[in-house]
Amino acid sequence: MPKHEPVLLKNMLQPGYTGSLADYERAGGYQALKKVVGKVAPADVTAMVIKSGLRGRGGAGFPTGVKWNFLPKDYKGTKYLCCNADESEPGTFKDRQLMERDPHQVLEGIAIACYAIGAETAYIYIRGEFVLGSKILDQAVTEARAAGYLGKNVLGTGVNVDIWVHRGAGAYICGEETALLESLEGKRGLPRVKPPFPATSGLYGKPTVINNVETLANLPHIVNRGPEWFASIGSPPKSAGTRIFCVSGHVKRPGNYEVPMGITCRELIFEQAGGMRGDKPLKAFIPGGASAPFLTPDHLDVKLDFESVAQAGSMLGSGGVTVMEEGTDMVWAALRLMEFFHHESCGKCSPCREGSSWLVQTLRRILAKRGRMEDLETLVQLCNNIAGRTVCAFGDAEVAPILSTLKYWRPEYEALIREAEAHRAHELPMAAARH
Ligand SMILES: Cc1cc2nc3c(=O)[nH]c(=O)nc-3n(C[C@H](O)[C@H](O)[C@H](O)COP(=O)(O)O)c2cc1C
Repeated sequence: MPKHEPVLLKNMLQPGYTGSLADYERAGGYQALKKVVGKVAPADVTAMVIKSGLRGRGGAGFPTGVKWNFLPKDYKGTKYLCCNADESEPGTFKDRQLMERDPHQVLEGIAIACYAIGAETAYIYIRGEFVLGSKILDQAVTEARAAGYLGKNVLGTGVNVDIWVHRGAGAYICGEETALLESLEGKRGLPRVKPPFPATSGLYGKPTVINNVETLANLPHIVNRGPEWFASIGSPPKSAGTRIFCVSGHVKRPGNYEVPMGITCRELIFEQAGGMRGDKPLKAFIPGGASAPFLTPDHLDVKLDFESVAQAGSMLGSGGVTVMEEGTDMVWAALRLMEFFHHESCGKCSPCREGSSWLVQTLRRILAKRGRMEDLETLVQLCNNIAGRTVCAFGDAEVAPILSTLKYWRPEYEALIREAEAHRAHELPMAAARH
């Protein structure tokens, strides 16, 4: 029996649960949709979501119902909902499990959101590599349409809601909401300058809401059990609900753990995930995906909620918790992450396009023991000239591993550079002797 009651992972933890429509209905599935469609006014569904305190699980943690309210009120034309299933943040693998193991929970959430915002069409933008997930979702959509939960005249109420699954082509940037929209429109996935925000000009220029898979999967439970119930879980009022943390790295039991927000990092790593592999001491961890600054063993008692993690100098982000044991080379870890960001930089903004290349080259030089002390200042300057100077938050994300490793493990950088200096001191007289 898990210590904390699972909500989103509950069905799939039952023995023999396949995620089929029949299984989902047996577990109470689609009751929430039946409760609201045609019975509760869309504005009241939005009010319920605001009251629950649900915040986005995709990264930024924006209040979900408040975002829905940004759609123009008197607009009678087409609106869209996009479910962000791109999940490309290194160390993050929760949406994949939700879609593969309990697809109807996601579809029901999408249908409720569509009803609340008045959208008849939703797209699930799924990461290109999730071939299995997209097949499972396609099949689930077919089942749900046949059962009258989706399509024209949902449950005989006159409401239309349809869902289309769209596979991306494998670019991390397409998880950024406006790049996602560009890609969905058939263009190259480059972020858009905001404003205008998607709420007023999104997909094909129409009012659009973009929400993460996990965010949407919470909706049936909020409807069924009430906003007060949801608001009472976790660290209310600002961090209500459970959160699926994806624990990876040097732990005994890597995997997805759904826990109320507000448990400590220590409990997640040492109780839920079984502690350190090989019982080596913990050296570092990332609390919210590769874009979140590293934390140290001193932060083990920080609560895993939006505010506490931010106060500790990092962010809850996508919920990807990557754990590193004593002995991990932190300069190498920063380089490895930086290589990912450099590879995935879409190239739209010069600071990110050019800066990511310089950051990788400088880190490689330091790691190859050819660095100089000035390189550390160069790294900081490069980071400061990228963060906050790009169209999207990618720029802020890519500097996080470098700035945080420099903050906590600067002596490791310096030791490599001192070795380089010692080599040079040794080499120069010999080179001079040759001439
Ligand atoms: C570079 C970048 C990548 C992102 N990748 C994802 C992603 O894979 N999945 C996701 O849900 N949000 C991702 N986001 C956040 C989205 O832009 C957006 O905030 C989110 O989908 C909104 O949904 P939510 O309010 O339900 O969290 C990314 C943001 C950035 C800047």
